[in-house]
Amino acid sequence: MTQPIKTAIFISGRGSNMVSLLEAERAGNFPAHCVVVVANTPDAAGLQKAAEFGVATAVVNHKDYPTREAFEHALHSELQSHNVEFVVLAGFMRVLTPWFISRWRGKLINIHPALLPAFPGLNTHARALEAGVSEHGATVHFVDEGVDTGAIILQGRVPVLKGDTEAILAARVLAAEHTLYPEALKLICAQLQ
Ligand code: GRF
Repeated sequence: MTQPIKTAIFISGRGSNMVSLLEAERAGNFPAHCVVVVANTPDAAGLQKAAEFGVATAVVNHKDYPTREAFEHALHSELQSHNVEFVVLAGFMRVLTPWFISRWRGKLINIHPALLPAFPGLNTHARALEAGVSEHGATVHFVDEGVDTGAIILQGRVPVLKGDTEAILAARVLAAEHTLYPEALKLICAQLQ
């Protein structure tokens, strides 16, 4: 049998997408195996959840490094020490520089809570409500040097309903993300195997 692709998941916070990826792997017949969860913040709640799945965790705190590149060298070393082949950003709140991106090009993906190219950047749900769109959702894409500009892999759509608040819409999108991200990772890693 072909070996699953060794992946790292990068988080900064609660890690609900990370949990959905680990659950998909646990369910079996999944072409990716998470070998380490890396957080840039020592208090990321997702670290505890990763440990409950029996996955190795690491903290590479950006505050411990004088420059972005020094931080990214530390991230890169962490990945190398685990023989990581593919990196999944899941709520990782640091912008990566071309140094890191060029080393992981084609092997670095992100999930963004909007239907790109609409609403790149932050506060996507509030902006979607303000724009009055009838459809919103999430996008899994390769990471390139731009902000949320990389090639799109998959999108998940949700309706925007009358009376939606930012919180209601965010919850609807997040639920869609939890199906979308495992599906996208499966698609990409099956091709890399
Ligand atoms: C998600 O909405 C994701 O689209 C965005 O950051 C959020 C992370 O949530 N990139 P979680 O930490 O996975 O719960």
